[in-house]
Amino acid sequence: MPKFTKIDAHWMSIALKLARNGRFSTMPNPNVGCVIVDKNGNLIGQGYHQKAGQGHAEVNALLDAGFIPHQHNAMRQRDPLFQPVTSGATAYVTLEPCSHTGKTPPCAIALIEAQIARVVIASVDSNPEVMNKGIALLQDAGIQVDTGLMGAEAQKLNTAFNFRMTYNKPWVIVKLATSIDGKTALQDGQSKWITGPKSRVNVQLERACSCAILSGADTVIADNPKLNVRIDELPEFASSLFQQRAAQPVRVIIDGQNRLHNNYQIFQDEHKVMVFNAQHNPLLTANNIEQIQVALVDPKGNQTTQPRQYLDLQAIMHVLAEKQINRVWTETGAALSGALLSVNLVNELIVYQAPMLLGSNARSAVNIGQLTSLRQAIKTEFEEVTQVGSDLKIRLLIKS
Ligand SMILES: NC(=O)c1ccc[n+]([C@@H]2O[C@H](COP(=O)([O-])OP(=O)(O)OC[C@H]3O[C@@H](n4cnc5c(N)ncnc54)[C@H](OP(=O)(O)O)[C@@H]3O)[C@@H](O)[C@H]2O)c1
Repeated sequence: MPKFTKIDAHWMSIALKLARNGRFSTMPNPNVGCVIVDKNGNLIGQGYHQKAGQGHAEVNALLDAGFIPHQHNAMRQRDPLFQPVTSGATAYVTLEPCSHTGKTPPCAIALIEAQIARVVIASVDSNPEVMNKGIALLQDAGIQVDTGLMGAEAQKLNTAFNFRMTYNKPWVIVKLATSIDGKTALQDGQSKWITGPKSRVNVQLERACSCAILSGADTVIADNPKLNVRIDELPEFASSLFQQRAAQPVRVIIDGQNRLHNNYQIFQDEHKVMVFNAQHNPLLTANNIEQIQVALVDPKGNQTTQPRQYLDLQAIMHVLAEKQINRVWTETGAALSGALLSVNLVNELIVYQAPMLLGSNARSAVNIGQLTSLRQAIKTEFEEVTQVGSDLKIRLLIKS
């Protein structure tokens, strides 16, 4: 493990802060930040990755420093003594520089051309196409590479991306809005509003940094929601960062029985909706709809009194991963939340808990069937608890 100094930590914390600016817009790519510090310890360039297909963090930082990547040879031909402003500098980058030509040329090559002397990396890339190859390219060029500074913080920036790269599944978050006794609505379905306005704005922020918003046919029929990001409700900083993004999160709707038709609000705008069903639904003809068929399987866990088959949730997640969806934000009722939990597809719960009691007749947050032993309980661990307005926001990771 290389020894890092306080100065290293200072620059890397700036790079991490820059990387966070991309959280609403880089998908399906990871969040990455970079700062470049010259031989005398002066900050000469900084940048972050804003959007897939556009400059990576390292390239943006080099440009900010006044070095134009991938034109080095031409400069050398014109002036053999040409020395880039970045010569001998240190680059602090939150993710291993890429080594492959994707939508942009490799960043490792750009750093080599810029004559960077040392690259400090927070975390290795979990993309198998890149992992350790960017580091090897830099080292082969004689650059000192030190890896692992603030690695845990950098990993957290890209939890969903890393999970998809490692397991070929999206990172699934189930959102619950409950009373203090864990209820989501009165027996007759009244639920507006249990949580306060600040929690609802916070939901918009969570939607805004997700690749997809998942729900089911019953929610569409009962609530006729739009399930989009209401940009005017976002705080100013988030609104401007979100608008760098190519599109709204994709709405993903599960409709195993073809109960939906074009008239629901979700199909009335130009933003994309993926509808999963068992057979093509001829009533869904709106331009924004992509229908995808998956198999029906026997359900696990939350069987109803009328046993029947449901769409294969594992297959749906596999399709979403293939479509490069990293983070799925789920807003469903108890049946679908329970079903996802029962087949171990949920990674995280985010519970907005309001300080009120709704009593035993009110609706429960998740239907995971009847447990007969505490050993069957789905175990979680607290990741973060914050107060949002008058509610608590509780982030829980599902223990595997
Ligand atoms: N408080 C909140 O934050 C909140 C958020 C959203 C919804 N809601 C409320 O929740 C209620 C609806 O909840 P819900 O969960 O019944 O509906 P849902 O969220 O619409 O989910 C139902 C969908 O899940 C599918 N499904 C159910 N069990 C399954 C299983 N075991 N395997 C695979 N798929 C399964 C159903 O399949 P089929 O299509 O095959 O039937 C249906 O398409 C509404 O009253 C709505 O207002 C509350």
